[in-house]
Amino acid sequence: MGSPLHLHLPAHGRGRALAPALSALLRGRPGSWDLPELPAVGGPLLAEGAVAESQQQVARLLGAERCWFGVNGASGLLQVALLALAPPGSRVLLPRNLHRSLLHACVLGQLEPVLFDLPFEADTGLWQPPPPEHLQRVIAAALAQGPLAAVAVVSPTYQGRKADLMGLAPVAHSAGLPLLVDGAHGLGDGIAAGADLEVLSLQKSAGGLAQSALLLAQGPRVDPAAIERALLWLSSSSPSALLLASCETAIAQLTSSGGARQRQRASSRAARLRQRCSALGLPWLASDDPLRLIVHTGAMGINGLEADAWLLERGVIAELPEPATLTFCLGLAPPAGVERRLPRALLALRQALAGPALPLLERPPLPLLAGLAQPIGSAWRARHERVRLEAAAGRIAAEPLCPYPPGIPLLVPGERIDRERAAWLQRQSRLWPGQIADTVRVVAGDGADA
Ligand SMILES: Cc1ncc(COP(=O)(O)O)c(C=O)c1O
Repeated sequence: MGSPLHLHLPAHGRGRALAPALSALLRGRPGSWDLPELPAVGGPLLAEGAVAESQQQVARLLGAERCWFGVNGASGLLQVALLALAPPGSRVLLPRNLHRSLLHACVLGQLEPVLFDLPFEADTGLWQPPPPEHLQRVIAAALAQGPLAAVAVVSPTYQGRKADLMGLAPVAHSAGLPLLVDGAHGLGDGIAAGADLEVLSLQKSAGGLAQSALLLAQGPRVDPAAIERALLWLSSSSPSALLLASCETAIAQLTSSGGARQRQRASSRAARLRQRCSALGLPWLASDDPLRLIVHTGAMGINGLEADAWLLERGVIAELPEPATLTFCLGLAPPAGVERRLPRALLALRQALAGPALPLLERPPLPLLAGLAQPIGSAWRARHERVRLEAAAGRIAAEPLCPYPPGIPLLVPGERIDRERAAWLQRQSRLWPGQIADTVRVVAGDGADA
């Protein structure tokens, strides 16, 4: 079988493309870098010290007014961002393909999520970012029901597809709303396009360690004091100096000429890999991120989760299996021989499992805007019972149904499950084997808190 072929995150590829200054730090005496918030070092919330200077420098490099480093991933900083934008009780407009951390923010901040539907590709099963006219329609419909505090979008998606952020930012702003971009998989395009806040996960597209992340801010719609207050609520009082160093060094690498050359080399190898796959008739899908390879397993008649399990047994480790696709993250220094090994493994997969192309995936039966029948925090903590999906119609969900990855909830606590949704979820549980149970927790009769 040979050595495993790791084609997953972090993008530093098990250290091969780790930011050089961080590699140097890790070669030092073990633990010598594990420092408290000494006056010379400081921390994300302190005005003085190396971290404060570094945050300012990163903000300048990425074209933002302010930057905060995070040591609890993009997950932690998305929560900070939403809590800073929205006071308790307010409504926030969130995309259906949101990362679950934004839902957690709604629980923590007592916010009311209003989930908006997105374009869905029936042959690949992938959600697409909203075009500006779609967002305009969504915002108008949501404002007709009451005021909103903020709107969020995901760009790029996990598979690397980018939204038209230049078009989306003015749509949000002309409705008087701040735009939060979940740019966990990106490199700061949101701020360049005029978003008010953007969150980056530095292990996903840059060469940082897992859990190192950035929150970028600009403009008059965000209050830096509100961000710092939320950061205080949600952060450790001993932020890891190693992860803070990872934030600084990942951006230094990203914006350096050496970093640009490294990315260019990786992209050229990725392009060769795609060409080889095409020449062999292996179906892959376009991505705006040259380092993400989305294989359209559905076109070969194979569920992406089955393909993933088959490849895993043969030492090929992908990042993101979904019902009709399997996404590989090549990283900033793709593994040696990937151009040869991956097509060979995919040909063997095709030979072993292929059949007629899978039928089109069913569009999720979701309205343009979905509100909750019960506040998310109370539904999630309510007394509950477990019922079979086919018996769930009419009940209120007491837990999310959330295949992970990608971490996108198909059902949110507090949502009332109608008949079409219950039937769709049953069919989804077959498409996500092992990821969705055939039962769901629903709020028990009176819905009282546990
Ligand atoms: C779109 C999106 N946002 C946020 C996150 C969370 O990022 P992190 O793992 O850095 O907490 C993820 C993780 O997969 C994600 O896919």
